[in-house]
Amino acid sequence: MATTRDARGNLCLGGVRLQTLADDPAIGTPTYVYDLSAIALEARELRESFEGAPHLVAFAVKANSAGPVVRVLAREGCGADVVSGSELALALACGISPDHVVYSGVAKTDDELDRAIFAGPRGIGAVQVESVEEIPRVDARAASAGRVARVAVRVNPGVDLAELGTHAYIATGHDEAKFGVALDDMSLALSALRAARHTELVGLGMHVGSQLTSITPYVDASRTLFRLTAEVRAEQGKRLAFVDTGGGFGIDYGEGACVRPGDFVRAVRALQRAAGLDDLALHVDPGRSLVAANGVLLARVVQSKVSRFQKGAAPLQWLLIDAGMNDLLRPALYRARHRVVPLGPDAGPPSNWRVVGPVCESSDDFGIHMLPDSPPAAIAILDAGAYGYTMASSYNGRALPAEVFIEGGRVVDRRARGSVESWILERTSGDSRATKRS
Ligand code: LLP
Repeated sequence: MATTRDARGNLCLGGVRLQTLADDPAIGTPTYVYDLSAIALEARELRESFEGAPHLVAFAVKANSAGPVVRVLAREGCGADVVSGSELALALACGISPDHVVYSGVAKTDDELDRAIFAGPRGIGAVQVESVEEIPRVDARAASAGRVARVAVRVNPGVDLAELGTHAYIATGHDEAKFGVALDDMSLALSALRAARHTELVGLGMHVGSQLTSITPYVDASRTLFRLTAEVRAEQGKRLAFVDTGGGFGIDYGEGACVRPGDFVRAVRALQRAAGLDDLALHVDPGRSLVAANGVLLARVVQSKVSRFQKGAAPLQWLLIDAGMNDLLRPALYRARHRVVPLGPDAGPPSNWRVVGPVCESSDDFGIHMLPDSPPAAIAILDAGAYGYTMASSYNGRALPAEVFIEGGRVVDRRARGSVESWILERTSGDSRATKRS
């Protein structure tokens, strides 16, 4: 939570009063607001935890692909972890060097592989292959481009799902996950790489899951990865450049303080040294921990509603807001809980409000929150800077939310919300060439 209250009790982010943004007719609600200065600080602190050792912090663009966010992280010396051809193109357009891009994904299309292989003078830093079968595909694309593709293998270290302690939908490094090459398949992957003359193995990596609040599963999986990396080096005589322990550093959504990203790094660096791999650069690929707490979603209260039950049950109080699961999907998809707070000063005694959006789905529900009994006019949903806008949709014909970017205590950039007219246009005007053909 990066928000503060000013002397009058108004909620602020990055020194800007959020009510002012919500009241501005050019901005309004629903609107995501991000503090770029705080995002830069978060990246700097993480980079400092490497204490000058060779490293790359590759920002997982899927968490927040807004240009101003990616550009600020590029300025801080971060690279990018991308999962589509579009994210790859965006990272490059935002000034990230192709050498600092890693590309993960279980089903990269030929066109996407070509984008990665053709980027810059040598292709991107690493195409992270996620199956044995992907290796000959990358090799064939590189051969037809007349290039050698730098490749890393995403290893699935087979961690116990329960030990990860995160929602099953965002746990990736267990045996039944679709991601990565299983440990037992590594020898097959290495033979496939030997046969692939247009690839060069530059690293081994993993990503075990997201929103990890304990260091233990990350460290255990890193130990496995480092052991494997040392073996590949010793037995295969491979000259590797890096080892990548992935992202997944959790944040505090209100349940209590959790481990800082730098603590994950310090713990695995100690293991890396112990495994004799200190000469390799250490890569990490955080998304959420760099941006989540530095973004909020502003919403207006449309109206309240009370369901009064006849049979003695307590009445239910609903707060109906203008942001829904189409703007912030996390509660509906993972039952994630985000704090909801009034934009103005606390007024009057609190009461339990069930905060819900306008979408026609019961899961469009942000949970029960203590808010003033006389409902606030506008609220902020906290810790919404990661996997918020990037997972938004126009379901129910609802416009994509606006975005506002704060830096150095003032608004430096913004993107307008879609409109009814732009949605109608998008849904009714077909591609003119296709229309003519039919
Ligand atoms: N690297 C890879 C290969 C990934 O798959 C992910 C996230 C990351 C890095 C970054 O993980 P992070 O540091 O952000 O935890 N939509 C979900 C999260 C999905 C994460 C998917 N992969 C959510 O809202 O919680």
